[in-house]
Amino acid sequence: MNEKSTSERHISPRKKQEDQGLDGLLRPQRLADFTGQERLKTNLAILIEAAQARQEPLDHILFHGPPGLGKTTLAHVVANEMNVNIRVTAGPAIERAGDLAAILTNLRAGDILFIDEVHRLGRAVEEILYPAMEDFVLDIVVGKGPGAKNVRLKLPRFTVIGATTRLALLTAPLRARFGAVYRMDFYEQAAMETIVTRGARILGVPIDGEGAAEIARRSRGTPRVALRLLRRVRDYVQVRADGEINRETAVAALDLLEIDHLGLDDLDRRVLRTIIEKFGGGPVGLDTIAASISEESDTIMDVVEPYLLQLGFLERTARGRIATPHAYKHLGIPLKSSQEDDAPNQPKLF
Ligand SMILES: Nc1ncnc2c1ncn2[C@@H]1O[C@H](COP(=O)(O)OP(=O)(O)OP(=O)(O)O)[C@@H](O)[C@H]1O
Ligand SMILES: [Mg+2]
Repeated sequence: MNEKSTSERHISPRKKQEDQGLDGLLRPQRLADFTGQERLKTNLAILIEAAQARQEPLDHILFHGPPGLGKTTLAHVVANEMNVNIRVTAGPAIERAGDLAAILTNLRAGDILFIDEVHRLGRAVEEILYPAMEDFVLDIVVGKGPGAKNVRLKLPRFTVIGATTRLALLTAPLRARFGAVYRMDFYEQAAMETIVTRGARILGVPIDGEGAAEIARRSRGTPRVALRLLRRVRDYVQVRADGEINRETAVAALDLLEIDHLGLDDLDRRVLRTIIEKFGGGPVGLDTIAASISEESDTIMDVVEPYLLQLGFLERTARGRIATPHAYKHLGIPLKSSQEDDAPNQPKLF
């Protein structure tokens, strides 16, 4: 039930089934088509150009940040820019050391191995990955029992691109093996508008600047959310309007989906209300919040919190989560007078 309620969210930055078919179409292929994340793009362009000038494979790259910001997209972009093959896998998909050994021995020089959810690699698998990333060797045991021998195989020079929504869960030795670590941030409004406009062009739906701005504003700085909301608004204008997205139709469609002008939906509001109404504004532990609204802690941590933190609606402290006065204001809940005396971002601690 928890899973279901989350996957039904329109603003969930997590991937949904319906996103898959369109991904190929909407996904930027080259760095020049990739909107936003300017600093990251510049750094990446330098990394790529330098490696190409030296005719060497790229250093290992790690992308981290909230879901739906373009980590997977960038991994493919890098492969296109380097003009190399990309092999795609994910932490949970590599169950045994042998699985990884099979993948590694099939790589060719310069290939990219993209490991999504890299924080979910098992220990035994990581042990194989360390020497492979560092020295491009594979240590395997041949045979069983007393006759078993350690054999060291040489691997071609390849590049690992890792992606994770949880940098903190990455083991220190693994993290240390990535020569380039990039954090992805929520997108600026202007970049979001460009992404919505480009998406509308690809989908063939007419949109004006104000319509794009409205969708962008409610997409919590996340391209995946923007493209999903765009599709919902497109549905709406096809059925209830004249097929064109403008400010009025975008607002009507998004209001109907109960996504407010900051992009918060029902789950976000439930989390904030719970902290404020059941726990006096906090601090309250993540698991307690999750239990009282029957959601999973992981969902709240990955999907709800990053954006609420970014908005300044929530603070994360050692003692738990605290709702800030901005959150009270947004929900229209009056602050108790004792709380108003506190520093602006510090509601009363209990
Ligand atoms: N800068 C961008 N410009 C245009 N579209 C983008 C951009 N970044 C991401 N997208 C689109 O947003 C969607 C989500 O991107 P992507 O799958 O790369 O996110 P992710 O960070 O890998 O998410 P997750 O953590 O869930 O794996 C894709 O459909 C992609 O086409
Ligand atoms: Mg991804």
